[in-house]
Amino acid sequence: MKRIGLTQFLIERERKGLVDADLRLLIETVARACKAISTCVDKGPLSDSLGTAGSENVQGEVQKKLDVISNEILLEANEWGGNLAALASEEMEHPHPIPSHYPRGEYLLLFDPLDGSSNIDVNVSVGTIFSVLRCSEDVDSSDEKAFLQPGSAQAAAGFALYGPTTMLVLTVGDGSHGFTLDRETYTFVLTHPGIRVPEDTQEFAINVSNMRRWEPPVKRYIDECLAGKDGPRGRDFNMRWVASMVAEAYRILSRGGIFLYPRDSKHKEGRLRLLYEANPMAFIVEQAGGAATDGHGRILDLRPQALHQRVAVILGSKKEVERVTSYHAA
Ligand code: F6P
Repeated sequence: MKRIGLTQFLIERERKGLVDADLRLLIETVARACKAISTCVDKGPLSDSLGTAGSENVQGEVQKKLDVISNEILLEANEWGGNLAALASEEMEHPHPIPSHYPRGEYLLLFDPLDGSSNIDVNVSVGTIFSVLRCSEDVDSSDEKAFLQPGSAQAAAGFALYGPTTMLVLTVGDGSHGFTLDRETYTFVLTHPGIRVPEDTQEFAINVSNMRRWEPPVKRYIDECLAGKDGPRGRDFNMRWVASMVAEAYRILSRGGIFLYPRDSKHKEGRLRLLYEANPMAFIVEQAGGAATDGHGRILDLRPQALHQRVAVILGSKKEVERVTSYHAA
């Protein structure tokens, strides 16, 4: 079977009017940066990039050296292309304006440069998540308000997974598609066109150590899964928790499942970031036939109030997400 690469995939979408030349170049640049991050991750202890950077990010989380390196790679790759008005990163408190000696474009790029980075020192999969928004010329792109758009306004979203193979999952609004990095040609090759998330699942992912803090609807859902054949669901469930959202999302895209990081008495707003994690993943999962809510409504309909806002996330196989959401309404 003849496989196509990311460039051909994007040019075909440009011909159909789904992306313009600027967005195509932007996605290709992000993909190139992800390849560079993948190479750094791959070197592991052979480079000096493992361990902590000795700093904290805006969320008060300890930054790993690779968080900082990945952030730099994405910034350097993207700021000069002329297709961006500004960038925002989970690792930076404020938006990063495009230096004045470069032309300003009409897109905004948001990213979590190294999701799941607590896993990096133990050689478990990590990844990069990104989201692209539009920004009209009259908007001050250095103001974080420019970024406070609902997820439904995303022009594109994707994530790279640095696992046994490096994968890129991408949507520009016509389905979600998976690419595998061919390390010989250094290209992303389309290997998973038109990904579909099975509607039903027997597998859930949640950090059970937070169980005592959960709200009743989440506790009810997980209790019913744990009761298995003997409970109201009448079938056994399996559980996974990688603690890398990119790995959980890729598993769900591959074989179905549900991922929950709900709000609880410790994480009152939720744990994950709306703009860097929840929105892009919700776009990708919906485009693959799945669903994503915060327990009450569709994630993509939420109106962001702050750049680093956190949110509860329940995403994956449609029927299971709808079930948990209905428990919140009960
Ligand atoms: O937001 C970063 C992240 O590492 C996610 O990728 C992951 O789902 C979650 O945090 C893991 O959380 P915990 O530390 O509670 O397992």
